[in-house]
Amino acid sequence: HTADWDEDSAEKGGYPHFMIKEIHEQPTAVKTTVTPRIEDGLPDLSECGITPEALKNVNNIFIVACGTAMHAGMVGKYVIEKLARVSVTVDIASEFRYRDPLLGKDDLVVIISQSGETADSKAVLSLAKEMGAKTLAVVNVKGSSIAREADMVIYTHAGPEIAVASTKAYMVQLAVMYLLAFEMAFAGGRIDEEKCRKLTSQLTAMPDIIQETIEKTLDVCQYISTKLITADSLLYIGRGLDYALSMEGSLKLKEISYIHSESYAAGELKHGTISLITDGMPVIAVATQNTLLEKTVSNIKEVKARGAMTIVICDEQADIDREAADYLIRVPRISEMLMPMVATVPMQLLAYYTSVNKGNDVDKPRNLAKSVTVE
Ligand code: G6P
Repeated sequence: HTADWDEDSAEKGGYPHFMIKEIHEQPTAVKTTVTPRIEDGLPDLSECGITPEALKNVNNIFIVACGTAMHAGMVGKYVIEKLARVSVTVDIASEFRYRDPLLGKDDLVVIISQSGETADSKAVLSLAKEMGAKTLAVVNVKGSSIAREADMVIYTHAGPEIAVASTKAYMVQLAVMYLLAFEMAFAGGRIDEEKCRKLTSQLTAMPDIIQETIEKTLDVCQYISTKLITADSLLYIGRGLDYALSMEGSLKLKEISYIHSESYAAGELKHGTISLITDGMPVIAVATQNTLLEKTVSNIKEVKARGAMTIVICDEQADIDREAADYLIRVPRISEMLMPMVATVPMQLLAYYTSVNKGNDVDKPRNLAKSVTVE
C-alpha cells in the first residue's frame, strides 16, 4: 500500500487532506481571480461581458445560490449596498424559485455557484431569464451549465476544489463580490476614481495578507479546536459583515465536525437564543467590525456571564477585555470592509482541526456531496 499512499499524498501536495491544501491555495486563488480583472488600477469586467452601461440602470439585485455560495452572497449584499447604493436581496435558490419572485427587466439576478451545476440554482437562472431579468453567473467550473446559460459570467479561478467543505471557492467568490461592488459603485457615480483606485489596491494586497493570516492563526486554531471537540452544540455570533461571515463559519464547522452550530446576529441573542447558553458552551464571536465592536463586546460579556466559553476573532489592535474572551484569535488589521477575507481563515482552520481531532472523514463528510444536481 505504500504506492497508494505516495500517490495519495502527491495528489494532496504533501498535505494530509485536500481541505488544508485548499486553505493554503487561497492566496494564489485570489491573485489569479483578481489580477486579470484589473486594468490600470481600476476594476475591468469587460472580459466577462460586463460593461459599466450594463450595471448602470439596475433597479434591484437578487443574489441567489445554495450553501456556501449563498453565504458569499450575504457578504456581497453588505458591500454592494454600502458602496453602490443599490438594494440587494439574497436568497436560497430552493426558496426563491418557488415563491413567485418579483423580477423585471431592470433587475439583475446574480447566481453564485462553484460547480455551475446545482439544480436549484440552475432552475433560478432559467426562471430569471424567462422573466426578462439580466443574469450574471459567478462560477468556478469552466463551461458548466450555469456559466453557459447566463448573460454574463465572472469566472472565479480557484482551480479544482476537491474537499466537500468549500474554502478557496468561497474566498474567491468574496473577491468577485468586491470587484463587482467597486465596479458598480464607480459606474453608478457613487464613488470617485480616487476612492475606486484605493479600494482596488486594497483588494490586490489581499493574497499576501491571507497568507500572513494562515501563518499567524494556524497554531492557535489547532489548539482551540481541542476545546471544541467535546461540545454538542455551539454558537457563532457577530454583527454586520461579521454576521454574514459567521454564517459560513458555522456551516463549515457543522458540516465536517458534526457539532451542531448556529450563527446568530449578536443583537438578536436576547430574543431567544441566549436561553440556550449553558456552562461551558462554546460561543465563537466574530468582532472585526470596529464601528460595531463595543456592541459586540457587550454581547460577548452577556454570554460569558451565563457560563459560555468565549472564543473571539478580532484584529490585532482591537481592544478586547481579556475577561470577555477565554480565547483570542488575532488576525491582521485591514479596512473593515475587507475583513471577511481574513476572518474567514481562522473559521476554516477551526472547522478543519475540530474535524481532524474528532477523527472524522474531513474531505468527505457523511451524507454530503460536492455538487447537488438533484432537487
Ligand atoms: C453543496 C456543497 C456546498 C456548496 C453547495 C452549492 O451543498 O456541498 O459546498 O456550497 O452545494 O454548490 P455550488 O456548486 O452551486 O456552489
